[in-house]
Amino acid sequence: MTDPLPPDPRLERLREQVPGLRLTTDPADAEHYGRDWTRRWTPAPLAVALPASVEEVAAVVRWALDEGIAIVPSGGRTGLSGGAVAAHGELVLSLERMNRVLAFDAVDRTLTVQAGIALEAVHNAAREHGLVYPVDFAARGSCSIGGNIATNAGGIRVIRYGNTREWIAGLKVVTGTGEVLELNRALIKNSSGYDLRQLMIGSEGTLGVVVEATLRLTDPPPPTNVMLLALPSFESLMQVFAAFRERLTLEAFEFFTDRALHHVLAHGAQKPFDDVHPFYVVTEFAIASDAEDGAAMAAFEFCLENGLVNDGVISQSDAQAAQLWRLREGITESLAPYKPYKNDVSVRISAMPAFLAETERLLAREYPQFDVVWFGHIGDGNLHINVLKPDGADYAVFVDQCEHVTRLLSDALARHGGSISAEHGIGLVKKPYLLGTRSAAEIEVMRGIKRVLDPKGLLNPGKVFDA
Ligand code: MLT
Ligand code: ZN
Repeated sequence: MTDPLPPDPRLERLREQVPGLRLTTDPADAEHYGRDWTRRWTPAPLAVALPASVEEVAAVVRWALDEGIAIVPSGGRTGLSGGAVAAHGELVLSLERMNRVLAFDAVDRTLTVQAGIALEAVHNAAREHGLVYPVDFAARGSCSIGGNIATNAGGIRVIRYGNTREWIAGLKVVTGTGEVLELNRALIKNSSGYDLRQLMIGSEGTLGVVVEATLRLTDPPPPTNVMLLALPSFESLMQVFAAFRERLTLEAFEFFTDRALHHVLAHGAQKPFDDVHPFYVVTEFAIASDAEDGAAMAAFEFCLENGLVNDGVISQSDAQAAQLWRLREGITESLAPYKPYKNDVSVRISAMPAFLAETERLLAREYPQFDVVWFGHIGDGNLHINVLKPDGADYAVFVDQCEHVTRLLSDALARHGGSISAEHGIGLVKKPYLLGTRSAAEIEVMRGIKRVLDPKGLLNPGKVFDA
């Protein structure tokens, strides 16, 4: 990494105050570290700092306080809501070099890691000890655990294991005053006042910089099978879910449309069925016993007899299971060249049928000209609705059109008691719609909390809400 620092006196003082800190203003680094996967904003950070210790992070925050410089905490930048964008002269604080496993405790079944470690490296470290860290999603190789915590990341196994917040036993954070807080000390039971650890989880870097985390681990799951189902209609989706959930312990229950399959196949995945079907489900479930094996077939036959599925295939090997999963996990990558406008919405499962019907009508009416790709974690009540930019369309005009529809979607969510962000966070992308999901009183409480932990408003300003 080259480092042609211009003679900016603020950065000179940072170098003096934190000797040895890795700092860069190279335009290529600014471009690389100043954006996330949204690709909507032009990166323009003041500089990028890559601290190697908690002490360096705290010292950088104290410098930022003195100078009045905003900080954008930065992990793997795989976020889809603009939460890690630095477009206004902020200092990017990348945790990338703080990527080590610090400790494993066999009795507590915990793994303590630095925030910059990749999710996949956490999976591998847990497996080395015969255990698992069960939060999982397609960006596992690139995202960092600090970013997962900042957004309370969900993923493909929430139906069985819950979101990131269920698995965080303890946290070390640097607040906006430069103080280092050690939160919850990995205790299972702790009724000693406010749970500040949980407050930090999902706060998108606006209350503190996560520097270390102690993660809860669990037993590996029993053997599982993966099934791909072809469905005739949207209406059948929730009934198929009920039929499988009733009979099996589900590890995952994901859906996607034929448009999604079309893009994944164009990206090199293998075609699963000869015929085209409007909707598909990938489900994974435990098959620890013959009874569970039988239950899977019973669920499938029930759906077939009742016209809820058209066809199905069950994995016969790990390689085949991976092939079926690729059809779902490859969707985001296959859509990326179209600069999709992403929606990540949720409602309670009980509200899902009515919400799905209303949303389908809304999108058919508002988006007749666009390729709209639906997929997501239907078993968690979480839909991803991706609208693809048509070839040659002006990006700003396209985004304007999408935002108009997001406003209508946000109104529908308010009516159905849902959320404008299920698992991607609010960041910049969904900030205009926060009021549809959270009340004005709630947002005022959030502002008050931010004032305490970040009195100068320097941590990720402009993200989630305006101060
Ligand atoms: C997914 O479920 O694949 C992720 O949330 C990513 C996405 O929505 O593109
Ligand atoms: Zn998702």
